[in-house]
Amino acid sequence: MKKLLMITSLIFVVFLGACSSNFGNMNPFNMMKERPEGSMMMGHGQSDVPLQHSTGENELKIPPVLKSDEEDGNDVYYTIEAQKGQTEIFEGIQTKTLGYNSSFLGPVMKLKKGQTTHIKLKNSLDEETTFHWHGLIIAGDADGGPHNVIQPGEEKEITFEVKQDRATLWFHPHPKGKTAKQVFEGLAGLMYIEDEMDDPYVYGENDFPLIIQDRTFNEQKQLDYEAVKNADGTIGETVLINGTLNPRLTVNKEKVRLRLLNGSNMRSYTFKLSNNQSFQQIASDGGLLNEPVELTELQLTPSERAEIVIDFSKIKENEDVKLIMDDGTILLPFEINDQENIVQKEIQIPQNPVKISEEEMQKEVSKEVVLFGMMHHVTINGKKFDMNRIDFTQKKGETEIWEIYNKPDMMGGTIHPFHIHGTQFKVISINGKEPPANLQGYKDTISLEPGDRAKIAVKFEEKGVFMYHCHILEHEDNGMMGQIKVE
Ligand code: C2O
Ligand code: CU
Ligand code: CU
Repeated sequence: MKKLLMITSLIFVVFLGACSSNFGNMNPFNMMKERPEGSMMMGHGQSDVPLQHSTGENELKIPPVLKSDEEDGNDVYYTIEAQKGQTEIFEGIQTKTLGYNSSFLGPVMKLKKGQTTHIKLKNSLDEETTFHWHGLIIAGDADGGPHNVIQPGEEKEITFEVKQDRATLWFHPHPKGKTAKQVFEGLAGLMYIEDEMDDPYVYGENDFPLIIQDRTFNEQKQLDYEAVKNADGTIGETVLINGTLNPRLTVNKEKVRLRLLNGSNMRSYTFKLSNNQSFQQIASDGGLLNEPVELTELQLTPSERAEIVIDFSKIKENEDVKLIMDDGTILLPFEINDQENIVQKEIQIPQNPVKISEEEMQKEVSKEVVLFGMMHHVTINGKKFDMNRIDFTQKKGETEIWEIYNKPDMMGGTIHPFHIHGTQFKVISINGKEPPANLQGYKDTISLEPGDRAKIAVKFEEKGVFMYHCHILEHEDNGMMGQIKVE
C-alpha cells in the first residue's frame, strides 16, 4: 500500500514536472509552494526557479550614452547597429552575446522632446531583426514591429519627431517568432526622453539605470537559448543588472534615482530595500507621476519601468542596505560613500499632469481583449497572431476604452503583462476599483493576475499598424499578439 502511494505520488511529481518545463530547470516541488494571498496561480507560468543572490563583487556597469552622428539645427542623427560579439560576463570567460553598438545590451539613447530624430538602423546579425521603440509615440511604419524587418547586412533610416514628455523607455528587437531569443542573447537598450524641465539628477552619479534580467548559462558559461527556452516564458537563476554579474552600486549619502526596467523574458520582480526603508516612485512606464508615491515594495512585470528615489542620507552609520526581492533574494547591494550632498533635490512634478476626464470616465468599453492560455496555446480573443489580419481599428487622436481580461484556465492561469505599441494609456480601473496610486500615471504595459479585468483609456497620436501583446516574450512569440490599425 505504502509502495503504491509512493509510486503514484512519484508519477504525479514527474507529470507536473513534465508539463511545466521542457528541460527540468523547474523544480516541481517549488510549484506546490503556497502562493501569496490573492493570487490564483497554481501550477504554471510563474513557476519558481530561485534566483541566486548577488555577491556584490562587481561594480555595476553603467551603459554609455549614445553620441549623435550629427546635429543640424533641430535635426539630430544617430546610428544603432545590432551586432554579434563576445562579452566577459564571467571573469576570464568570453560569452557569445548580441548587442547594440557594443557586444552586449546597448547604449542609453537620450532624445529631446521637439527634436526631429533620425536613426540609422543597421543589422549586422546573421538573422533578420527589427528595432522596436517600446513606449515611444511613433508612426506604425517606424515602430519596429514584425512588419519592419531589416535583413542581415541591410540598413534603413527612420525619422520622427519626439512628441512626448520625459520618460524612461527602451528598445529591443521584435522579429516574428524570434523576439525572445534575441532579447535573451542581449539585444535591449534604454531610451530616455528629455524635455525642457530641469533635472537635478546626474546620469551615472546619482541617476542610474538598472536593466534587470535573469539568465541561465550552460557549463561553458554560454547563453544557449534553444536548450533552456520554455514555452511559458524562459526563466533563469542568474540575475544580471546592466549585464553585470554579481553587481553592487556605490552611492553617496544623498537622494539617488534608480530607473528600473524589467528586461526579463518572463520573470516578475517585487523590489524592496533590505532595511525596509521606504522609497518614492516618481515615474511609471510613460513618465512622471502627478506626485511621488511612497512605497516599501514595488512589482514590475516584464517590460515595465519605474523611476524610484531612495534617500541614502537617511541610512545610519554602518547600516547595510541592499535592493532585494520580496523573498529576500539580494539583487544589488549598495556601498555608501560618506560624501553628502547638501543640496536636497526637488522632487519633480510633471508639466502635463495625467488626468482622466469626466468624458473618458463615462465612455463605454469599445474594445475587449481576452488573454488566455499557457505554453503554445496562448491566445488573444481566442486567436493567434496573424501578420495578415488586422484585429482592431481606431481613429487617430480618439480615445477608446479597452477592457483587458485575463481569463483563468483549469490550472488557475498566470500573470500576463499586456502591452500596446505606439501609445501611453491611462488605467481607469482594475476590477472595478481605482488603480493604486503608482498605476495612475502613463503606462504602456499593465500586468494582470488571472481573473483580473482592467479598463484603460487608449489614444493613438500617430497612424499605422501597431502590435498589442503579452510581454512574456515566449507568449508573444507563440502568437499572443494582435494588430490594430490606426487611421
Ligand atoms: Cu516591448 Cu512589442 O514590445
Ligand atoms: Cu512595445
Ligand atoms: Cu502571457
